[in-house]
Amino acid sequence: MRDYALEREIETLLGLRERREKDSELYKIANEVFDRTTKETLAYLHRRGAIENLYGVISTGKEANVFAGVDREGERVAVKVYRTYTTEFRRIWEYLAADPRVGYLPKDMRKLVFVWTRREFKNLQRAIKYAVRAPEPLIFRNNVLVMEFVGDDLPAPRLKDVEKELEKSDFEELYSYLMRVIERLWKRGDMVHGDLSEYNVLIWDEPVIIDWSQATVRRNRMSLELLKRDLRNVINYFARKGIAVDDYDEKLRELIEG
Ligand SMILES: Nc1ncnc2c1ncn2[C@@H]1O[C@H](COP(=O)(O)OP(=O)(O)OP(=O)(O)O)[C@@H](O)[C@H]1O
Ligand SMILES: [Mg+2]
Repeated sequence: MRDYALEREIETLLGLRERREKDSELYKIANEVFDRTTKETLAYLHRRGAIENLYGVISTGKEANVFAGVDREGERVAVKVYRTYTTEFRRIWEYLAADPRVGYLPKDMRKLVFVWTRREFKNLQRAIKYAVRAPEPLIFRNNVLVMEFVGDDLPAPRLKDVEKELEKSDFEELYSYLMRVIERLWKRGDMVHGDLSEYNVLIWDEPVIIDWSQATVRRNRMSLELLKRDLRNVINYFARKGIAVDDYDEKLRELIEG
C-alpha cells in the first residue's frame, strides 16, 4: 500500500511542497531510483536533521547518485545514495569478501550495499585520520552517506573538468601531491584508495580525494593490485600531460619495501 506520510516527507525533503517542480531532474531521479528503503532512510536522516533539504543533482552513476543538500543548520552537505539494485553486485561482493575488516557478508543485495556504504564511511574517516584531504563523513545509514560538501554554490570541479585550464606547474604540483597521498595512505594508513584518477580528485582549497568505496586496508589480499592500479593511473595520466614522472617499477618497489 502507498505510504502517503512517507511520500509527503520525501516531497518536503525535495522542496516540492513549496516549489512544485515535479518535472525537475531531482524529482525524476528520486522517483526512478529511490525505492522504499531509500525513502525511509532519507526520511530518517531528515528527522535527525542531517538532511533538511535536497536541492540538486551533482552526479548520476552506475552505482550511486550524489545530491547537493543542506542540513538543519543550513550547512551544505553532499548526499551519496547507493542504488539498492545494482548491476555491480558481483564486483561489490568480491571487493567486500576480500576485505578483512568486513565480517559477515549478507546474501541479500540490498544489505550488501549497506555494508558497502558503511565501508566507504569508514574509509573516509581513516583517510582523514592519516591527513589525506577527503570529504568529512557526517553520518551514514543503510545505503545513504552524508558528507561534507566540497564547493560553494556549485560543487568543486574534478581534475578532469579543469585540466584544460591548468599549466605545467599545476600538473607538477598535483602530481607530487597525489604521489604523496598514495605513499602516506600506504605507509602510514596501511590503506589504498584503489580508484585514484582525474575523476576522483576535486580541485578546491587543496585537492580533495573522493569516492572511497573501493578503498581498503593493506592486509586485504587485493591491496597490492589496487596499489598498482593507483600508481599506474597517476603516473600514466601525468606522463600524458608532459610531466617528468617516476619510474613505475622503481616507485612500486620503494612503496612495498620501504
Ligand atoms: N563531497 C562532495 N562534494 C562535492 N561533490 C561531490 C562530493 N562527492 C562526490 N561529488 C561529485 O559527485 C561525483 C560522483 O561521486 P563519486 O565519485 O563518489 O561517486 P561515483 O563515481 O558515482 O561512484 P562509483 O565510482 O562508486 O560509481 C563526483 O565526481 C563529484 O563530482
Ligand atoms: Mg567517482
